[in-house]
Amino acid sequence: MSEPVFLRACRGEVVDHVPVWFMRQAGRSLPEYRALRGEGSILDAIADPALACEVTLQPVRRYGVDAAILFSDIVVPYHAIGFGVDVVPGRGPVIARPFRDRDDLERLRDLNAEDIAHVTSTVDLVVDALAESGTPLIGFAGAPFTVASYLVEGGPTRDFGVIKGLMHADPALFDQLLERLVAITISFLRAQVEHGARALQLFDSWAGALNRDEYERFALRATQRVLEGVADLDVPTILFGVGTGELLSLMAEAGSCVVGIDWRVDLDEGRRRVGDKAVQGNLDPARCLSGVQLGVDAAREVLHRAGSDAGHIFNLGHGVLPTTDPLVLEAIVKVVHDEGKAGVA
Ligand code: CP3
Repeated sequence: MSEPVFLRACRGEVVDHVPVWFMRQAGRSLPEYRALRGEGSILDAIADPALACEVTLQPVRRYGVDAAILFSDIVVPYHAIGFGVDVVPGRGPVIARPFRDRDDLERLRDLNAEDIAHVTSTVDLVVDALAESGTPLIGFAGAPFTVASYLVEGGPTRDFGVIKGLMHADPALFDQLLERLVAITISFLRAQVEHGARALQLFDSWAGALNRDEYERFALRATQRVLEGVADLDVPTILFGVGTGELLSLMAEAGSCVVGIDWRVDLDEGRRRVGDKAVQGNLDPARCLSGVQLGVDAAREVLHRAGSDAGHIFNLGHGVLPTTDPLVLEAIVKVVHDEGKAGVA
Protein backbone atom coordinates (compact mmCIF):
# COMPACT_ATOMS: atom_id res chain seq x y z
CA MET A 1 0.00 0.00 0.00
CA SER A 2 1.41 3.39 -0.89
CA GLU A 3 2.04 6.07 1.73
CA PRO A 4 -0.73 8.57 2.53
CA VAL A 5 -0.97 11.48 0.08
CA PHE A 6 -0.05 14.04 2.74
CA LEU A 7 3.29 12.34 3.49
CA ARG A 8 4.07 11.89 -0.19
CA ALA A 9 3.35 15.54 -0.98
CA CYS A 10 5.67 16.54 1.89
CA ARG A 11 8.40 14.57 0.16
CA GLY A 12 7.63 16.33 -3.14
CA GLU A 13 6.18 13.22 -4.80
CA VAL A 14 3.39 13.03 -7.38
CA VAL A 15 0.01 12.40 -5.74
CA ASP A 16 -3.60 11.77 -6.75
CA HIS A 17 -5.01 14.86 -5.02
CA VAL A 18 -3.64 17.92 -3.26
CA PRO A 19 -3.64 17.17 0.50
CA VAL A 20 -5.15 19.65 2.95
CA TRP A 21 -5.29 20.13 6.71
CA PHE A 22 -5.74 23.28 8.81
CA MET A 23 -3.53 24.63 11.56
CA ARG A 24 -5.74 24.84 14.68
CA GLN A 25 -8.32 22.59 13.01
CA ALA A 26 -9.11 21.20 16.47
CA GLY A 27 -10.43 24.03 18.54
CA ARG A 28 -12.96 26.66 19.30
CA SER A 29 -14.42 26.96 15.81
CA LEU A 30 -15.96 23.50 16.23
CA PRO A 31 -19.21 23.28 18.24
CA GLU A 32 -18.35 19.69 19.19
CA TYR A 33 -15.06 20.99 20.67
CA ARG A 34 -16.80 23.70 22.69
CA ALA A 35 -19.32 21.17 23.94
CA LEU A 36 -16.59 18.84 25.20
CA ARG A 37 -14.13 21.42 26.54
CA GLY A 38 -16.30 23.44 28.90
CA GLU A 39 -14.39 25.82 31.17
CA GLY A 40 -10.94 25.23 32.62
CA SER A 41 -7.39 25.43 31.37
CA ILE A 42 -6.53 23.87 28.05
CA LEU A 43 -3.61 22.25 29.89
CA ASP A 44 -6.10 20.16 31.88
CA ALA A 45 -7.81 19.07 28.65
CA ILE A 46 -4.43 18.11 27.18
CA ALA A 47 -3.65 16.11 30.33
CA ASP A 48 -6.72 13.90 29.71
CA PRO A 49 -5.73 11.45 26.93
CA ALA A 50 -9.27 10.26 26.13
CA LEU A 51 -10.49 13.86 25.80
CA ALA A 52 -7.40 15.01 23.88
CA CYS A 53 -7.75 12.04 21.52
CA GLU A 54 -11.40 12.82 20.83
CA VAL A 55 -10.63 16.50 20.16
CA THR A 56 -7.83 15.48 17.77
CA LEU A 57 -10.25 13.28 15.82
CA GLN A 58 -13.17 15.75 15.61
CA PRO A 59 -11.87 17.76 12.62
CA VAL A 60 -10.72 14.61 10.82
CA ARG A 61 -14.24 13.22 10.97
CA ARG A 62 -15.96 16.46 10.08
CA TYR A 63 -13.71 17.72 7.31
CA GLY A 64 -12.04 14.61 5.91
CA VAL A 65 -8.67 16.38 6.07
CA ASP A 66 -5.57 14.47 4.97
CA ALA A 67 -3.83 14.67 8.36
CA ALA A 68 -4.67 14.89 12.04
CA ILE A 69 -2.67 17.18 14.33
CA LEU A 70 -2.25 16.24 17.94
CA PHE A 71 -4.31 18.27 20.39
CA SER A 72 -1.54 19.71 22.53
CA ASP A 73 0.28 23.03 22.84
CA ILE A 74 3.79 24.36 22.37
CA VAL A 75 4.12 25.08 26.10
CA VAL A 76 3.20 21.53 27.20
CA PRO A 77 6.79 20.29 27.78
CA TYR A 78 7.63 23.38 29.87
CA HIS A 79 4.49 22.95 31.93
CA ALA A 80 5.48 19.29 32.34
CA ILE A 81 8.90 20.09 33.84
CA GLY A 82 7.37 22.61 36.22
CA PHE A 83 8.56 25.85 34.63
CA GLY A 84 5.32 27.46 35.78
CA VAL A 85 3.18 27.95 32.68
CA ASP A 86 -0.53 28.54 32.35
CA VAL A 87 -2.58 29.17 29.22
CA VAL A 88 -5.11 31.96 29.67
CA PRO A 89 -8.17 31.72 27.40
CA GLY A 90 -8.20 34.49 24.80
CA ARG A 91 -4.63 35.48 25.66
CA GLY A 92 -2.23 32.55 25.44
CA PRO A 93 0.64 31.21 27.54
CA VAL A 94 1.56 33.12 30.69
CA ILE A 95 4.70 32.40 32.75
CA ALA A 96 4.66 32.92 36.54
CA ARG A 97 8.42 33.57 36.81
CA PRO A 98 9.84 34.49 33.38
CA PHE A 99 13.38 33.50 32.36
CA ARG A 100 15.77 36.25 33.49
CA ASP A 101 19.30 34.98 34.29
CA ARG A 102 21.68 32.03 34.56
CA ASP A 103 19.93 30.63 37.62
CA ASP A 104 16.83 30.09 35.50
CA LEU A 105 18.68 27.60 33.27
CA GLU A 106 18.31 25.06 36.08
CA ARG A 107 14.55 25.29 35.75
CA LEU A 108 14.88 23.89 32.21
CA ARG A 109 15.97 20.30 32.79
CA ASP A 110 15.56 17.77 29.99
CA LEU A 111 12.29 15.88 29.62
CA ASN A 112 11.90 12.28 30.61
CA ALA A 113 9.23 9.84 29.47
CA GLU A 114 7.11 10.20 32.62
CA ASP A 115 6.89 13.99 32.25
CA ILE A 116 4.94 13.62 29.03
CA ALA A 117 3.23 10.27 29.59
CA HIS A 118 -0.14 12.04 29.10
CA VAL A 119 0.96 13.22 25.65
CA THR A 120 2.32 9.87 24.50
CA SER A 121 -0.84 8.13 25.80
CA THR A 122 -2.90 10.48 23.64
CA VAL A 123 -0.68 9.70 20.64
CA ASP A 124 -1.21 5.96 21.28
CA LEU A 125 -5.00 6.40 21.34
CA VAL A 126 -5.08 8.59 18.22
CA VAL A 127 -2.80 6.31 16.21
CA ASP A 128 -4.98 3.37 17.13
CA ALA A 129 -8.16 5.20 16.12
CA LEU A 130 -6.67 6.30 12.78
CA ALA A 131 -5.20 2.91 11.87
CA GLU A 132 -8.13 1.85 9.72
CA SER A 133 -8.38 5.02 7.63
CA GLY A 134 -4.59 5.39 7.43
CA THR A 135 -4.82 9.14 8.14
CA PRO A 136 -1.39 10.20 9.42
CA LEU A 137 -0.94 12.06 12.71
CA ILE A 138 1.26 15.17 12.83
CA GLY A 139 3.21 15.68 16.04
CA PHE A 140 4.54 19.15 16.81
CA ALA A 141 6.56 21.44 19.03
CA GLY A 142 7.37 25.12 19.29
CA ALA A 143 10.71 26.07 17.73
CA PRO A 144 13.29 27.34 20.24
CA PHE A 145 12.99 31.06 19.40
CA THR A 146 9.19 31.11 19.63
CA VAL A 147 9.21 29.19 22.92
CA ALA A 148 11.95 31.49 24.24
CA SER A 149 9.76 34.48 23.44
CA TYR A 150 7.10 33.21 25.87
CA LEU A 151 9.58 32.13 28.56
CA VAL A 152 11.49 35.43 28.46
CA GLU A 153 8.63 37.87 27.87
CA GLY A 154 6.39 36.06 30.35
CA GLY A 155 3.47 35.98 27.92
CA PRO A 156 2.35 37.11 24.48
CA THR A 157 4.09 40.30 23.28
CA ARG A 158 3.67 42.74 20.41
CA ASP A 159 7.14 44.26 20.40
CA PHE A 160 9.44 41.44 21.61
CA GLY A 161 11.36 44.10 23.56
CA VAL A 162 12.44 41.93 26.48
CA ILE A 163 13.69 39.01 24.42
CA LYS A 164 15.50 41.29 21.96
CA GLY A 165 17.10 43.02 24.93
CA LEU A 166 18.32 39.70 26.31
CA MET A 167 19.62 38.32 23.01
CA HIS A 168 21.62 41.44 22.19
CA ALA A 169 22.81 42.26 25.72
CA ASP A 170 23.85 38.74 26.68
CA PRO A 171 24.08 36.52 23.60
CA ALA A 172 26.04 33.89 25.55
CA LEU A 173 23.20 33.45 28.03
CA PHE A 174 20.68 33.44 25.18
CA ASP A 175 22.68 30.65 23.52
CA GLN A 176 22.57 28.64 26.73
CA LEU A 177 18.82 29.13 26.89
CA LEU A 178 18.47 27.97 23.28
CA GLU A 179 20.63 24.95 24.00
CA ARG A 180 18.25 23.88 26.80
CA LEU A 181 15.23 24.42 24.54
CA VAL A 182 16.83 22.44 21.68
CA ALA A 183 17.33 19.42 23.96
CA ILE A 184 13.79 19.54 25.33
CA THR A 185 12.27 20.03 21.88
CA ILE A 186 14.14 17.06 20.42
CA SER A 187 12.99 14.82 23.29
CA PHE A 188 9.39 16.00 22.91
CA LEU A 189 9.32 15.42 19.13
CA ARG A 190 11.08 12.04 19.31
CA ALA A 191 8.59 10.77 21.88
CA GLN A 192 5.66 11.63 19.59
CA VAL A 193 7.22 9.79 16.64
CA GLU A 194 8.19 6.79 18.78
CA HIS A 195 4.49 6.48 19.62
CA GLY A 196 3.36 6.69 16.00
CA ALA A 197 3.23 10.31 14.78
CA ARG A 198 4.19 10.18 11.10
CA ALA A 199 5.17 13.82 10.45
CA LEU A 200 6.39 16.69 12.61
CA GLN A 201 5.68 20.41 12.47
CA LEU A 202 7.91 22.93 14.17
CA PHE A 203 6.01 26.15 14.94
CA ASP A 204 8.35 29.14 14.84
CA SER A 205 5.28 31.33 14.87
CA TRP A 206 6.99 34.53 15.95
CA ALA A 207 10.22 34.27 13.92
CA GLY A 208 8.84 37.05 11.72
CA ALA A 209 9.66 39.51 14.52
CA LEU A 210 13.37 39.11 13.64
CA ASN A 211 15.46 40.57 10.83
CA ARG A 212 17.61 38.23 8.75
CA ASP A 213 20.76 38.69 10.85
CA GLU A 214 18.85 38.07 14.08
CA TYR A 215 17.04 35.10 12.59
CA GLU A 216 20.31 33.48 11.51
CA ARG A 217 22.05 34.16 14.80
CA PHE A 218 19.24 33.55 17.32
CA ALA A 219 16.72 31.22 15.69
CA LEU A 220 17.92 29.37 12.58
CA ARG A 221 20.84 27.51 14.17
CA ALA A 222 18.72 26.27 17.05
CA THR A 223 16.02 25.14 14.62
CA GLN A 224 18.65 23.36 12.53
CA ARG A 225 19.87 21.51 15.61
CA VAL A 226 16.33 20.40 16.43
CA LEU A 227 15.79 19.13 12.90
CA GLU A 228 19.16 17.33 12.96
CA GLY A 229 18.05 15.71 16.21
CA VAL A 230 15.03 14.09 14.55
CA ALA A 231 16.50 13.47 11.07
CA ASP A 232 17.19 9.78 11.71
CA LEU A 233 13.46 9.17 12.40
CA ASP A 234 12.79 9.62 8.70
CA VAL A 235 9.43 11.39 9.07
CA PRO A 236 8.67 14.52 7.00
CA THR A 237 9.20 17.77 8.90
CA ILE A 238 7.47 21.12 8.35
CA LEU A 239 8.87 24.46 9.52
CA PHE A 240 6.28 27.24 9.83
CA GLY A 241 6.29 30.86 10.92
CA VAL A 242 4.15 33.99 10.53
CA GLY A 243 5.33 37.16 8.78
CA THR A 244 8.42 35.36 7.49
CA GLY A 245 8.41 36.62 3.89
CA GLU A 246 11.89 38.10 4.28
CA LEU A 247 13.18 34.96 6.01
CA LEU A 248 11.91 32.23 3.70
CA SER A 249 15.22 31.65 1.90
CA LEU A 250 16.94 31.21 5.29
CA MET A 251 14.15 29.00 6.64
CA ALA A 252 14.64 26.78 3.60
CA GLU A 253 18.17 26.07 4.90
CA ALA A 254 16.97 24.83 8.28
CA GLY A 255 16.71 21.24 7.09
CA SER A 256 12.94 20.70 7.09
CA CYS A 257 11.26 18.82 4.30
CA VAL A 258 8.48 21.45 3.93
CA VAL A 259 8.35 25.19 4.60
CA GLY A 260 5.07 26.74 5.75
CA ILE A 261 4.17 30.10 4.23
CA ASP A 262 1.75 32.66 5.64
CA TRP A 263 -0.74 34.56 3.49
CA ARG A 264 1.30 37.73 3.07
CA VAL A 265 3.48 36.16 0.37
CA ASP A 266 1.80 34.89 -2.80
CA LEU A 267 2.43 31.18 -3.07
CA ASP A 268 4.17 31.31 -6.46
CA GLU A 269 6.60 33.87 -5.02
CA GLY A 270 6.86 31.81 -1.81
CA ARG A 271 7.83 28.77 -3.85
CA ARG A 272 10.54 30.81 -5.60
CA ARG A 273 11.96 31.96 -2.27
CA VAL A 274 11.94 28.48 -0.76
CA GLY A 275 13.50 26.82 -3.80
CA ASP A 276 13.30 23.13 -4.48
CA LYS A 277 11.23 22.11 -1.48
CA ALA A 278 7.60 21.41 -0.71
CA VAL A 279 5.52 24.29 0.65
CA GLN A 280 2.48 24.42 2.91
CA GLY A 281 -0.13 27.15 2.94
CA ASN A 282 -1.35 29.76 2.59
CA LEU A 283 -4.97 30.89 2.62
CA ASP A 284 -5.60 33.98 4.75
CA PRO A 285 -7.66 32.71 7.74
CA ALA A 286 -9.65 35.97 7.67
CA ARG A 287 -10.98 35.11 4.22
CA CYS A 288 -12.78 32.15 5.75
CA LEU A 289 -14.98 34.47 7.84
CA SER A 290 -17.41 35.71 5.17
CA GLY A 291 -19.30 32.66 4.04
CA VAL A 292 -18.77 29.64 1.85
CA GLN A 293 -18.61 31.35 -1.54
CA LEU A 294 -15.96 33.93 -0.60
CA GLY A 295 -13.95 31.27 1.24
CA VAL A 296 -14.01 28.95 -1.76
CA ASP A 297 -13.05 31.81 -4.10
CA ALA A 298 -10.05 32.59 -1.89
CA ALA A 299 -9.03 28.91 -1.80
CA ARG A 300 -9.12 28.81 -5.62
CA GLU A 301 -6.74 31.79 -5.74
CA VAL A 302 -4.29 29.84 -3.59
CA LEU A 303 -4.61 26.73 -5.79
CA HIS A 304 -3.94 28.88 -8.82
CA ARG A 305 -0.79 30.39 -7.29
CA ALA A 306 0.38 26.91 -6.21
CA GLY A 307 0.69 25.95 -9.88
CA SER A 308 1.10 22.38 -11.03
CA ASP A 309 4.56 21.45 -9.71
CA ALA A 310 4.61 18.73 -7.04
CA GLY A 311 5.00 19.56 -3.37
CA HIS A 312 2.06 21.65 -2.18
CA ILE A 313 0.14 20.94 1.01
CA PHE A 314 -2.89 23.19 1.23
CA ASN A 315 -3.37 24.90 4.59
CA LEU A 316 -4.24 28.30 5.99
CA GLY A 317 -1.49 30.90 6.39
CA HIS A 318 -2.01 30.68 10.19
CA GLY A 319 -4.50 29.02 12.52
CA VAL A 320 -8.27 28.74 12.05
CA LEU A 321 -9.90 31.77 13.69
CA PRO A 322 -12.38 30.90 16.46
CA THR A 323 -15.37 32.49 14.66
CA THR A 324 -14.85 30.50 11.45
CA ASP A 325 -17.97 28.68 10.24
CA PRO A 326 -17.01 24.98 9.86
CA LEU A 327 -19.10 24.85 6.66
CA VAL A 328 -16.54 27.11 4.98
CA LEU A 329 -13.64 24.77 5.81
CA GLU A 330 -15.72 21.78 4.73
CA ALA A 331 -16.29 23.39 1.33
CA ILE A 332 -12.61 24.31 1.00
CA VAL A 333 -11.50 20.71 1.58
CA LYS A 334 -13.78 19.60 -1.23
CA VAL A 335 -12.51 22.25 -3.65
CA VAL A 336 -8.86 21.46 -2.87
CA HIS A 337 -9.43 17.74 -3.38
CA ASP A 338 -11.44 18.23 -6.59
CA GLU A 339 -9.52 21.07 -8.23
CA GLY A 340 -5.95 21.09 -6.85
CA LYS A 341 -3.35 20.47 -9.57
CA ALA A 342 0.01 20.69 -7.78
CA GLY A 343 1.81 17.40 -8.32
CA VAL A 344 -1.41 15.60 -9.27
CA ALA A 345 -0.86 12.72 -11.67
O1 CP3 B 1 -3.73 22.84 15.40
C1 CP3 B 1 -4.40 22.13 16.17
O2 CP3 B 1 -5.61 21.89 15.98
C2 CP3 B 1 -3.71 21.44 17.33
C3 CP3 B 1 -3.70 22.14 18.55
C4 CP3 B 1 -2.76 23.30 18.85
C5 CP3 B 1 -3.01 24.13 19.98
N1 CP3 B 1 -1.96 24.98 20.13
C6 CP3 B 1 -4.19 24.03 20.85
C7 CP3 B 1 -4.67 25.28 21.48
C8 CP3 B 1 -1.56 23.73 18.28
C9 CP3 B 1 -0.86 23.23 17.04
C10 CP3 B 1 -1.06 24.79 19.10
C11 CP3 B 1 0.24 25.45 18.86
C12 CP3 B 1 0.50 26.76 19.47
N2 CP3 B 1 0.21 27.18 20.74
C13 CP3 B 1 1.22 27.81 18.83
C14 CP3 B 1 1.79 27.73 17.45
C15 CP3 B 1 0.71 27.91 16.45
C16 CP3 B 1 0.32 29.33 16.24
O3 CP3 B 1 -0.87 29.64 16.41
O4 CP3 B 1 1.19 30.13 15.85
C17 CP3 B 1 1.30 28.89 19.73
C18 CP3 B 1 1.95 30.23 19.46
C19 CP3 B 1 0.67 28.47 20.94
C20 CP3 B 1 0.51 29.24 22.20
C21 CP3 B 1 -0.95 29.45 22.46
N3 CP3 B 1 -1.78 28.51 23.07
C22 CP3 B 1 -1.77 30.53 22.05
C23 CP3 B 1 -1.27 31.78 21.35
C24 CP3 B 1 -3.09 30.23 22.43
C25 CP3 B 1 -4.34 31.04 22.13
C26 CP3 B 1 -4.95 31.72 23.28
C27 CP3 B 1 -6.45 31.87 23.01
O5 CP3 B 1 -7.22 31.41 23.85
O6 CP3 B 1 -6.81 32.41 21.96
C28 CP3 B 1 -3.08 28.97 23.07
C29 CP3 B 1 -4.25 28.24 23.60
C30 CP3 B 1 -4.72 27.14 22.72
N4 CP3 B 1 -3.92 26.14 22.24
C31 CP3 B 1 -6.06 26.93 22.26
C32 CP3 B 1 -6.03 25.74 21.49
C33 CP3 B 1 -7.19 25.07 20.84
C34 CP3 B 1 -7.27 27.82 22.55
C35 CP3 B 1 -7.68 27.83 23.98
C36 CP3 B 1 -8.71 26.82 24.43
O7 CP3 B 1 -9.40 26.16 23.63
O8 CP3 B 1 -8.82 26.72 25.65
